[in-house]
Amino acid sequence: MDKIKIIGGNTLHGKICISGAKNAALPLICASLLTDEPVIIKNVPLLSDITFLNGLLKYLGMDISEKQEIFVQHQSTKYTYQANQITNLVAPYDFVRKMRASYYVLGPLLARFKHVEFSLPGGCAIGARPIDIHLSSLEQMGAKIEIKNGYVIADAPNGLTGAHIIFSKASVGATCNILMAATLASGITKIENAAKEPEIANLIDLLNAMGAKIEGKNTSVLTIEGVEKLHNAEISVISDRIEAGSYAIAAAITHGKIELVNACADFLQQPIRVLEKMGVDVSVDDNSIIVDAVNKTIVGEDIYTDYYPGFPTDLQAQFMALMTVAEGASLVTESIWENRFMHVPELCRMGANINIHGHASAIVRGVKKLSGAPVMATDLRASFALVLAGLAAEGETIVNRVYHLDRGYEKLEEKLKAVGADIERIKESD
Ligand code: EPZ
Repeated sequence: MDKIKIIGGNTLHGKICISGAKNAALPLICASLLTDEPVIIKNVPLLSDITFLNGLLKYLGMDISEKQEIFVQHQSTKYTYQANQITNLVAPYDFVRKMRASYYVLGPLLARFKHVEFSLPGGCAIGARPIDIHLSSLEQMGAKIEIKNGYVIADAPNGLTGAHIIFSKASVGATCNILMAATLASGITKIENAAKEPEIANLIDLLNAMGAKIEGKNTSVLTIEGVEKLHNAEISVISDRIEAGSYAIAAAITHGKIELVNACADFLQQPIRVLEKMGVDVSVDDNSIIVDAVNKTIVGEDIYTDYYPGFPTDLQAQFMALMTVAEGASLVTESIWENRFMHVPELCRMGANINIHGHASAIVRGVKKLSGAPVMATDLRASFALVLAGLAAEGETIVNRVYHLDRGYEKLEEKLKAVGADIERIKESD
């Protein structure tokens, strides 16, 4: 397995171009299952999660073609998806276990083909991750659902019908899935307590461009009037707010200055506010965010993760890395996932002072310096937190299990090297 080697201590300076958002691209790609006409998706990041999803879609019968192009100052991929020969309605365990977001095929396949079989994904490193809200909502829309041999088998022989659905939690995945399913249902579907993440607005824009009738974008009440058929459309994936937030901390933790090109400050209001309270200068230009921590004293601050527009859970681990070297104490409360402190013992191995209380709170007391160590993490964002700690630490840090990072950070070493980091990938065979 590849590893990443970092020699810490360099101050980072320069520009990093932010890629398309993984968590927006995944549902956009699956929306192409809703029509037999071509759907063009631009600014798709080159990540293993996208490769896994494309693999599953090809297995179902999707035709996929790709073209490299320049999108806002960086090289990116434009994909064309055409679902005019779907021959298979089963998403097998081997695909789903590699990538949970395969559940995005559920809504579109059931709505368009009236049947789907989907391997239940099971838990993962950050929590139990149930999909009960997805399934109960589809049942309210008339689907018959059975769980057999680890698979969800869903049927709607007469098609799905609109329903008034109130989510018990503002789930991102369930909001995307039910939005997609409702576009082809008969009648009107109303979702209350829907998630409001920017990735959902991106999906609504694509679905409406395909001929769907969705109202309520950026609010927690979405109304979808079902239509007979959807058609071809084109969309660009929005820029990745979590990648941008992660590199903002790379600037802060090394006392450097980085311009995040193609980053959207609107998507990052809470993280920017916290960075400013921690003593970092953040300025916003047309299409970029400039993070300046040169000669700044970083001080502790509390965070509480919450549904958007609250503080994103996907930046919790990275902010915690910054807090380990801040002056004073910080309290981190994780309210979304029940097991998202797996990076704590690894940060402590690098000299951090963190105490976990229960499963939802951690107190971080800043130390003067971290020291490099071999470390590993169990999920994507925790792995990036260890990279950040390595950038600030004295000496050498080896981050193992790089496949987590490859799921969500496009050209990570290239981007960090370009701003002055001493970082390299050690290939398995080296
Ligand atoms: C999305 O996961 C993201 N993944 C996650 O990012 C992110 O952490 C999460 O939203 C929260 O922002 C993708 O977009 C692919 P949820 P998702 O459904 O949709 C509970 C990353 O690092 N819940 O909004 O799976 C659930 O247990 C990843 O990029 C149910 O109880 O998250 C959690 O407590 C990790 N039943 C809460 O809701 C359900 O049926 C929010 O989960 C569904 C969810």
